[in-house]
Amino acid sequence: MASEKGKIGIVGSGLIGQSWAMLFASVGYTVTIYDILPEALEKSKTTIGTQLKELEKKKLLRGPLNAEQQIGKISTTTSLKDLKDSIYIQECVPERVNLKKDVFEKLDKIVGPKTILASSTSTLLPSTFTEELKNRKNCIVAHPVNPPYYVPLVEIVPAPWTDPKIAATTKELMLEIGQSPVLLSREHPGFALNRIQYAIFVECWSLIKRGILSVEDVDKVMSQGLGMRYAFLGPMETAHLNAEGMEAYYHHYRESMWNTIQQFDPAEKFEGPTADDIVKQLTEKIPLDKLADKRRWRDNCLTQLSILKNKLKEE
Ligand code: NAI
Repeated sequence: MASEKGKIGIVGSGLIGQSWAMLFASVGYTVTIYDILPEALEKSKTTIGTQLKELEKKKLLRGPLNAEQQIGKISTTTSLKDLKDSIYIQECVPERVNLKKDVFEKLDKIVGPKTILASSTSTLLPSTFTEELKNRKNCIVAHPVNPPYYVPLVEIVPAPWTDPKIAATTKELMLEIGQSPVLLSREHPGFALNRIQYAIFVECWSLIKRGILSVEDVDKVMSQGLGMRYAFLGPMETAHLNAEGMEAYYHHYRESMWNTIQQFDPAEKFEGPTADDIVKQLTEKIPLDKLADKRRWRDNCLTQLSILKNKLKEE
């Protein structure tokens, strides 16, 4: 199966590189992870091995292969040239534009004209680090959401010069590995996920600043209210269901929505007394030395939610 499927290259063996490697190996791709640090590669091999075995024990392993087979699909290298025959390379180095530029230039020199060069960047527009490349029509962003093994969204963002066929193939590949891709028609600051996330953040900030709600209660509005729906339906479908269809929703709610929106505060830069107050309230609730515990709890919640969502899909 592996030879039919072709090879996948991963550049950067940190948190995100490891997740991509596991996702590609889960459906039988042969994956080579490159990093400049041999010790980072060693660590990634151990972490991936432990994670896959744990997932198998808990019956959460993805794909048709067992953990040992998936581990066998993943190798590591400190030589970038080992990625040259890859059909798809996913870059996962730290979020610095000059570093991305440097890595893409090096990849551009070793790959053939058919290799897709994808970046995991969360914030950088693909045009900022691919413009000068010989293979720039093959460059694209495939932005995952952490932890990608349980949160399937991938934002696919083309540069102005990306070949539409490359975008389509990347989307198909994401579907093949069990992720849920969305393809943006063009690059756009913040892509989609962060734009929506920041819009929510702006309004939460305003409610706290005006003293309407505490930090804890603003978070409750999401986790016990809106978020319960949003785990299954987006805001558009939610609206469609909240009336007798979207036409009716506009008819009933557009005036009151408009009146409320007119009173929104303009966005601020998240500094000053409100910023300090939010820090104080959050650190009282979750002291910094308890963050790791809370992250473990969050990851377990996401795992359980992902199991539930898959179960509901099957019914
Ligand atoms: P990380 O810091 O965990 O890992 C980065 C890895 O890149 C390290 O192993 C490092 O040794 C390696 N590296 C550094 N320079 C390199 C080079 N020149 N060539 C090859 N490897 C090199 O970073 P993380 O969190 O995995 O993030 C990677 C990318 O994914 C970033 O662009 C980030 O914005 C994006 N991303 C991160 C998410 C997250 O929640 N951590 C979520 C979605 C995207």
